[in-house]
Amino acid sequence: MYITVIGTGYVGTVTGACLAYLGHHVTCVDSDASKIEMLQRGQSPIYEPHLEKLLELAAGRGGIEFTTSLSDAVARSQVIFIAVGTPPLPSGEANLEYLEAAAHSIGAAMDDACFRVVVNKSTVPVGSGNLVETLVREGIADARPAERHNIHFGVASNPEFLREGSAVADSLYPDRIVVGAADDRTLEMMRELYSPLVLQSFEPPPGLARPAGMQSAPLFTTSLTSAEMIKYAANAFLAMKIGFANEIANICERVGAEATEVMTGIGMDSRIGSKFLNPGVGWGGSCFGKDVHALVHTAREYGYTSRLLQSSLDVNAEQRQMVIQKLQEKLHILKGRTIGLLGLAFKPNTDDLRDAPSLYIAGRLLQMGVRVRAYDPIAMPVCQKQQPDLKIRYCESAEALAADADALVLVTEWSEFRDLDLGKLAGLMATPVLVDGRNLFHPETAVAAGFDYTGVGRRIRPRPATAV
Ligand SMILES: NC(=O)c1ccc[n+]([C@@H]2O[C@H](COP(=O)([O-])OP(=O)(O)OC[C@H]3O[C@@H](n4cnc5c(N)ncnc54)[C@H](O)[C@@H]3O)[C@@H](O)[C@H]2O)c1
Repeated sequence: MYITVIGTGYVGTVTGACLAYLGHHVTCVDSDASKIEMLQRGQSPIYEPHLEKLLELAAGRGGIEFTTSLSDAVARSQVIFIAVGTPPLPSGEANLEYLEAAAHSIGAAMDDACFRVVVNKSTVPVGSGNLVETLVREGIADARPAERHNIHFGVASNPEFLREGSAVADSLYPDRIVVGAADDRTLEMMRELYSPLVLQSFEPPPGLARPAGMQSAPLFTTSLTSAEMIKYAANAFLAMKIGFANEIANICERVGAEATEVMTGIGMDSRIGSKFLNPGVGWGGSCFGKDVHALVHTAREYGYTSRLLQSSLDVNAEQRQMVIQKLQEKLHILKGRTIGLLGLAFKPNTDDLRDAPSLYIAGRLLQMGVRVRAYDPIAMPVCQKQQPDLKIRYCESAEALAADADALVLVTEWSEFRDLDLGKLAGLMATPVLVDGRNLFHPETAVAAGFDYTGVGRRIRPRPATAV
């Protein structure tokens, strides 16, 4: 099928590459010419494992092109995905200006050559499917008033569930594909589009083996409104699950229980499941905060106060502050101290810094008169570019970060941090304080290496006395 994907961010680029890999002819469109130029050179504008390789493979399969010209791409496409950003407004509402502009432009570019499906992949508040339909119709009426009754299209909502850092595998091997639509013709085209994913009939790309036992992926069809609600409900639940783990860890800390044991113990219950139960400095990223705020806002619009969702937001905000408290407990005075952040990205394997806990922690420490340093294997150039006012000193290694520092805070659990020589790091520091904001290290190992260690909800076991 001929497909256009509008928006070449984290979602659009991965979606375009995967659909082309499956054999579709894809044109990716972005209004940001610098991103399109990079993609035309075969470079990904974002850091995402396997993406550049997949783009290369996709070019040799269905074919993938990149352009800033939305109208040419739409005119030759049967399916048009909208994957533009929907960032939060100060009120918590989703900002729909990019979605609205894209939907209107799609309408203005349509002709009567074929029936087209406009698919909304951006995360949008309930009711936006109807808004997209209206805007496409207005675009058609503005551009081709005389032909408007002969131009036919359907609208689908196809929420995206990929996780940055494993976005390619999540897209090729999804737990489920959700498609909301109001008419059968639209649903049929979506079924055809996704049939290689549903049947898992494609050859896995090198280095991205199909999960053992996976033979197909369910395609769940719903109304437009339910599909939109599924995305918000899924993110709200995951955010709440992490918030729950954090809250229990905070209680564990006070009563002397070990939170990682407690989480393992409850995660063994199949009704609960073990994922998303890691206590830490709280969630971040472009989706959870934005989507929970937007859902709270939607509920309020309908006269409902969501106490559980609001509490998830509050617990998460306080969890970031917990790092500052732990540093104060260890060092008392923070003014004039040197503190190093291990990790900046909101999670490992991405360069995404949107709503990253590191930004809050760095900002708060700087306000308190701390000299803040950071080391991140991937996200430092992005941070330097996006946060020019954050007066962080960027270090080229964990050792440089530790040299003469008063404390280290592990903010992002990059796998390379697991292999750090803790003894060496502690030896380089002025005071070897380690706040492990992701419970990456074993407390006993860190203490044995010379650190004054504190994690989240962790208990340091006294070493058994050695027999003389
Ligand atoms: N990032 C994720 O992990 C993730 C996961 C699931 C869902 N989502 C949702 O998907 C959507 C996109 O997220 P993202 O992280 O890819 O955003 P992003 O900010 O990385 O990318 C959006 C892109 O859209 C482009 N754009 C904006 N308006 C345009 C227009 N009119 N025409 C052409 N291009 C335009 C921007 O230049 C940008 O490159 C959001 O609604 C987000 O909530 C994101």
